Amino acid sequence: MAATKILVYSLLFAFSLSCFAQETTNRIELGSSITAGSNSSWQSPSGDFAFGFYPLANGHFLAGIWFDKIPEKTLVWSANRDDPAQMGSTVNLTLNGQLVLTHSNGTEIFIDNSTFTSSALLQDKGNLVLLDSSSKIIWESFDSPTDTILLGQVLPMGTKLYSNANGAIDYSTGKYRLEIQMDGNLVLSAFRFADRGYWNSITAGKKNVSLVFNQSTALMYIVDDTGIVSSMTTEVPTPIENYYHRATITDRGNLQQWVYNKRGGNRWTLVWQRITEPCIVNTICGVFGFCSSPDNKEVNCKCLPGYSPLDPNNPSRGCYPNVMVDFCDANSTASDFAIEVIENADFLNDEFADLSHFRTTDVNECEKAVMDDCLCAAGVWYDSTCTKKRLPLLNARRSYPSTNDRVAFIKVSQMGIQEQHKKDSPSRVVLLASLLSCSVLALIFGITVVYNHPLTQPYIHAQQSAKPKSVEINLKAFSFQELREATNDFKSRIGRGGFSTVYTGVLTLDGKEVEVAVKQLEKVIEQGDKDFLTEVQVIGLTHHKNLVRLIGFCNEHKHRLLVYELMKNGTLSSFLFADENRSWDHRIEIAFGIARGLLYLHEECEPQIIHCDIKPQNVLLDNNCKAKIADFGLAKLLKKDQTRTSTVVRGTMGYMAPEWLKNVPVTAKVDVYSFGVLLLEIIFCRKHVELHRVTEELLQVDEGTQVEDMILVDWVLCCVKAGNLRSIVNHDLEVLGDFKRFETMTMIGLWCICSNPTLRPSMKKVIQMLEGTVEVGVPPEVVAQIS
Ligand SMILES: *[C@@H]1O[C@H](CO)[C@@H](O)[C@H](O)[C@H]1NC(C)=O
Ligand SMILES: *[C@@H]1O[C@H](CO)[C@@H](O)[C@H](O)[C@H]1NC(C)=O
Ligand SMILES: *[C@@H]1O[C@H](CO)[C@@H](O)[C@H](O)[C@H]1NC(C)=O
Ligand SMILES: *[C@@H]1O[C@H](CO)[C@@H](O)[C@H](O)[C@H]1NC(C)=O
Ligand SMILES: *[C@@H]1O[C@H](CO)[C@@H](O)[C@H](O)[C@H]1NC(C)=O
Ligand SMILES: *[C@@H]1O[C@H](CO)[C@@H](O)[C@H](O)[C@H]1NC(C)=O
Ligand SMILES: *[C@@H]1O[C@H](CO)[C@@H](O)[C@H](O)[C@H]1NC(C)=O
Repeated sequence: MAATKILVYSLLFAFSLSCFAQETTNRIELGSSITAGSNSSWQSPSGDFAFGFYPLANGHFLAGIWFDKIPEKTLVWSANRDDPAQMGSTVNLTLNGQLVLTHSNGTEIFIDNSTFTSSALLQDKGNLVLLDSSSKIIWESFDSPTDTILLGQVLPMGTKLYSNANGAIDYSTGKYRLEIQMDGNLVLSAFRFADRGYWNSITAGKKNVSLVFNQSTALMYIVDDTGIVSSMTTEVPTPIENYYHRATITDRGNLQQWVYNKRGGNRWTLVWQRITEPCIVNTICGVFGFCSSPDNKEVNCKCLPGYSPLDPNNPSRGCYPNVMVDFCDANSTASDFAIEVIENADFLNDEFADLSHFRTTDVNECEKAVMDDCLCAAGVWYDSTCTKKRLPLLNARRSYPSTNDRVAFIKVSQMGIQEQHKKDSPSRVVLLASLLSCSVLALIFGITVVYNHPLTQPYIHAQQSAKPKSVEINLKAFSFQELREATNDFKSRIGRGGFSTVYTGVLTLDGKEVEVAVKQLEKVIEQGDKDFLTEVQVIGLTHHKNLVRLIGFCNEHKHRLLVYELMKNGTLSSFLFADENRSWDHRIEIAFGIARGLLYLHEECEPQIIHCDIKPQNVLLDNNCKAKIADFGLAKLLKKDQTRTSTVVRGTMGYMAPEWLKNVPVTAKVDVYSFGVLLLEIIFCRKHVELHRVTEELLQVDEGTQVEDMILVDWVLCCVKAGNLRSIVNHDLEVLGDFKRFETMTMIGLWCICSNPTLRPSMKKVIQMLEGTVEVGVPPEVVAQIS
C-alpha cells in the first residue's frame, strides 16, 4: 500500500516536473518523435532555432537545425547530409534514450547511442544537446559540426568542417575542408583531389589550439592555453545581439562570416572572409579548368583550350580533353600538336605539377621548350622564368591586375582544337559516348613523370658511394654504328618515354641472331663516362628470372644506349587492361614474379637497387608470359635539372609514394608503395586512375563519390571499409572460388600503400604474406577513420 502511494506520488512529481520543464525550457522528453513531411519540429526556447526535417528541393529531407525565424530558414547542421531521408522517416528520442533517425524503409541511423539520456534540448545558440538525469550534457551537435560554426561554438583540435557540394541546393559533403590540425595549424584544403592546402593559419607548433566563435563579441579567433594566438574576424556590426551570426566554409572553399539583422533584415550580409582572391582556392575550377575573377567576388570557370566541361551546367566540376592524346606516343609527330597561348595567365604555385624551370628572357624559348618536351602539357613564362607543367593541369587562372608580364602555354592536339571550334556546348550524351569509347583516357595520367626533388639527394649520394663488386661482367660494348645497323637506322620504334626511346633490332651474338630492344637514353647524366659505366655495370651484375636482362650498351660520344633481350609479349599494362585472357591464376603468378624480382633488387643486389618507377608499363612479359621487371637501375642515370641543384627523380603519378614529396629520406619502401598500387591493379584488373568514372558519375549526379571511384586505391579502401568486397567481384567466378586469397591480396596491397613508409612491409614480408607463411593483419588505413 505504502509502496503504491510512493509510486503514485513520484509519478505525479515526475509528471509535473516534466510539464514545468517543457514550458520553461522546451525540454524534449524520451518517447518524442518528429516525422518527415509533417510540419512538426523541436524549437529552441526563444524560437530562433528549430530541429526537425529540413525539406530539400528534390522532396527529400535532412534531419537538421536551422534558423527558424528568418524566411531563408538557413540550415546550420544536419545529421544525414550524405543520406537524405524520404517522406515518412522519423527522428525518435527513444525510451532507451537513443536519438535515432529511422528511414522510411526501416533503416535505423543512431545519431547518438548514449544510454543515460533522460531528455534533449535545442539550446538558443542552435546546439542540440542530450542531457542525463542531472542535466549534464552527454552529447551535443556542436561536437560534430558540418559546415557551419555558430556563436558560442568552440572547435577543438582535430575538428574538421566540410563544405557543402552546392550552396543551398546540395548539402552533401563537398570538396573543401577546414581542419584544426593536431599540429596547431588551421588549414583550408581541397581534400578530394590533390589534397593540398591553400591557406593556413601559420600557428603550427602551438599546443592545444581551438577555433573560438566568441559568444559575447561575435569575433572568431584561434586560442591556445595561453590565450589568443591569431585573430580572424576583427569587426562585426553592433550591438551583436541584434544580429544572427554564422561562419561557414562555402562550396567555393572560403571561410566566411555572415550576419542577419534580426530587426527588419532581409538577407545575410557578409562581414568577413578568409580568402580574398577566390582563384587561389585549390582546384576551384576542377581539373583542366581556368579560373578568372576580375572583381575577386564572382568566380568564372572555363576550360583550358582543347578541353571541354565535364558538366556544361556546372563548369567548376572540371574539364576533359577533347581528344585523348599521348604527347609521348611513339607514332606522333610535332605537327600533331600546337601551343595555345593565354596572355596574362599563370598556374598557381603548385610545385607538385612542375616538371622543371629555367631562366629565359625570351618568351618564345619557353613556348618552344613546352612543345619539345613530350612530358610537358603546359608552361608558364613569368619573371624571366619558364616553368614546364605536367598533367593533370590544375589551378590555371587569369592573373590580375593585367600587366602582360606572364603568359601561359597549353599544349593541345590539332584535332582537339578543331573539335573545339566545331562544338560550342556539346551535349552530355555525346561527350559521354566519346569518352567511354576511348580506353586510352587513363593513359594521359600514366605518362612517366620526371621531376625534381631536392630531398632525394641524400639517397642518391648514399647510392653513389657504393661501388659495384669487381667481378667479370658479361656485358658487351656496342658501337653506335652496330646498333644503327641492328635497328635498321632506328626505324622500328616501339616505345617512347620521358627520357628514352626504344627500338627493336636484331644482333648477331656468338654466331646467333638475337632479337633485342635498344633503348636510347636522352637525358642522361653528363658528369662523365665513369658514372654511366658504373651504373651500367650495376645493372649488368643483376641476374634474376624476373628481371629483363641487359645484354650490352653503347657509350660513344653523346650516345648512350642500352641493349636488352626483347620481350615479345609486351607490357603488363596491355595484358591487364586490354587482353581478355587474363586468368586469375596467371595474374597471381605475375604478382609473385614482380614481388620476387623486387626482393632481389632490394635485398640480394650489392649495391641495393631501388627501382623508383614500378608500374605496369615497366613490367614486361616474356615468351612464356612470365613477368619481368624492366628499367631498373636507371634512376641514377638521368640528367640533373638545369636550374636546380637537385637530382632528377623518376616516378609516375599514381604509383609514387607520398614521401617523394615530403621531407623524409627515400628508401626501398617507395617501391613497396608502387608495388601495392600495381598489386591492386592486377587483382582488380583496373587502372590506378580511371578518369572516365568522373563522367559516369555525372549520370547519377552524385558529386560526393567521384574521386573514390576514380582512384583505385581510394575505391578499394572504400569497398573494404564498407565490407562489400565480395559484391564487386560477383561476376568473376574464378575469383569468387578463391575469394579468401583475393581478400588477403587486397589487404597486402593496402599494407603496401600505407602513407607511413615504416609501416609498409619489406618485399620479403610481402612475399611471405603472399605465400601465406606470415599473418596478414588489418591494414592501418582500413582502421583509420574516414576523413
Ligand atoms: C506544412 O506547412 C505548409 C506551409 O505552411 C503547408 O502548405 C502544409 O500543408 C503543411 N503540412 C502539414 C502536413 O501540415
Ligand atoms: C518513432 O516514433 C513514431 C511516431 O511516434 C513511432 O510510430 C515509431 O514506432 C517510433 N520508432 C521507434 C524506433 O521508436
Ligand atoms: C533505406 O533508405 C536510406 C535512405 O535513402 C538508404 O541509405 C538505405 O540504404 C536504405 N536501406 C535499405 C535497406 O534499402
Ligand atoms: C546503437 O545501439 C543499437 C542497439 O541499441 C545498435 O544496433 C547500434 O549498432 C548502435 N550504434 C552504434 C553507432 O553504436
Ligand atoms: C585544451 O583546450 C580546451 C579548450 O580550450 C580545454 O577545455 C582543454 O582542457 C585543453 N586541454 C589541455 C590538455 O590543456
Ligand atoms: C569571449 O570574449 C570575452 C570578452 O573578450 C572573454 O571574456 C571570454 O573569455 C571570451 N570567451 C572565449 C570562449 O574565449
Ligand atoms: C604506330 O603505328 C603503327 C602502324 O600504324 C601501329 O601498328 C602501332 O601500333 C603504332 N604504335 C603505337 C605505340 O601506337
